[in-house]
Amino acid sequence: MKINEHFLNLKDSYLFATVGKKTAEYKKAHPDREVIRLSIGDVTRPLAPVVIEAMHKAVDDMSRTETFKGYGPDQTCYGYDQLLDSILGSYARKGVTLSKSEVFVSDGAKSDCGNILDLFSAENTVLLPDPVYPAYADANVMAGRKIVYADANEQNGFLPMPDDSVRADLVYICSPNNPTGAAYTREQLKAWIAYAKKQDAVILYDAAYEYFISDPALCRSIYEVEDAKDCAIEICSYSKTAGFTGVRCGYTIVPEALVRGGASLNRLWARRQSTKFNGVSYITQMGAAAVFTEEGEKQIGENIACYKKNAKIIADCLDRLGIWYAGGKNSPYIWLKCPNGMGSWEFFDYLLENANVVGTPGCGFGKNGEGYFRLTAFGTEENTRKACERIAALLK
Ligand code: MLT
Repeated sequence: MKINEHFLNLKDSYLFATVGKKTAEYKKAHPDREVIRLSIGDVTRPLAPVVIEAMHKAVDDMSRTETFKGYGPDQTCYGYDQLLDSILGSYARKGVTLSKSEVFVSDGAKSDCGNILDLFSAENTVLLPDPVYPAYADANVMAGRKIVYADANEQNGFLPMPDDSVRADLVYICSPNNPTGAAYTREQLKAWIAYAKKQDAVILYDAAYEYFISDPALCRSIYEVEDAKDCAIEICSYSKTAGFTGVRCGYTIVPEALVRGGASLNRLWARRQSTKFNGVSYITQMGAAAVFTEEGEKQIGENIACYKKNAKIIADCLDRLGIWYAGGKNSPYIWLKCPNGMGSWEFFDYLLENANVVGTPGCGFGKNGEGYFRLTAFGTEENTRKACERIAALLK
């Protein structure tokens, strides 16, 4: 019996698991200390009232024979019309026309960022920015795919641009970016689309943080840029948009126009999903369908505004301390330079030990992240303020 030996090329544990383990060990050793976690991007605000109301109604539907639901509709890979219509409506408001057959409801962006690789040969080369959300890199390592990196650094504003001399078949773009918070403009995305077309590559566009964009020069969907539909798959999530990290729901757009190797990627993905996935629960889908309604968008907007206020609290604190950072404006992440030339893990330990604040070491996202550190704005306002007071007292 042979295992998939590519797994042996992974680091021992996933970045956030390592951070979680170190935090738990610290708490065990210091039970009297109040540790504030601004590490993994997990939300703290409750679901919007419209979502709760829709879910309650869906629970009631499940209690009656006439409205009970089993498997979701198979002709749409288990997506219910109410949800698909609301997603199409949200795209229409961005000026993007899609059809229901192009929308695949998922249990979140992370799963599909890895699962989508089933469509592509392990012999392909994948291009990732560095630093990068570790799930993209790890999923490709598991498949044994060759990875090349585009350097993201202070010089290019953590927004690497394509280099035609680099060969790639798959390109991951996350904008607004996790971990750096930087976001591509329309013109920059155009350059990536031109690159993908020259290379016959497919862009895997992670739009999980699109609802944090407030700058109108930035795109919320790659399909807002001309000609993206025949070279890009877009992966979206309700996690950060609507606080669904625990509920689990997202959607992936595979346009009908996307053809590679003579095959429709839309058909291949439908085939893959109908074989390996049984859809998202009716109750969850009904909750998600309430998000992109007029009232839903108003309510989730209030939650996002609270997180953006936290981002500003962190940014103001770093400004006062004279610490360089990026992100936080169109993103829930603040990417800062470790003070006094500290390394990422060194700063992690220093902050945990002396301020009892947990962040994520930048080097966990790639070699270019060494010397940087990520803080999330997804905490409560009270904890964010408290963490900033402690950081300020420590580093002043
Ligand atoms: C993060 O902290 O980078 C994210 O919360 C991880 C995720 O969305 O899976």
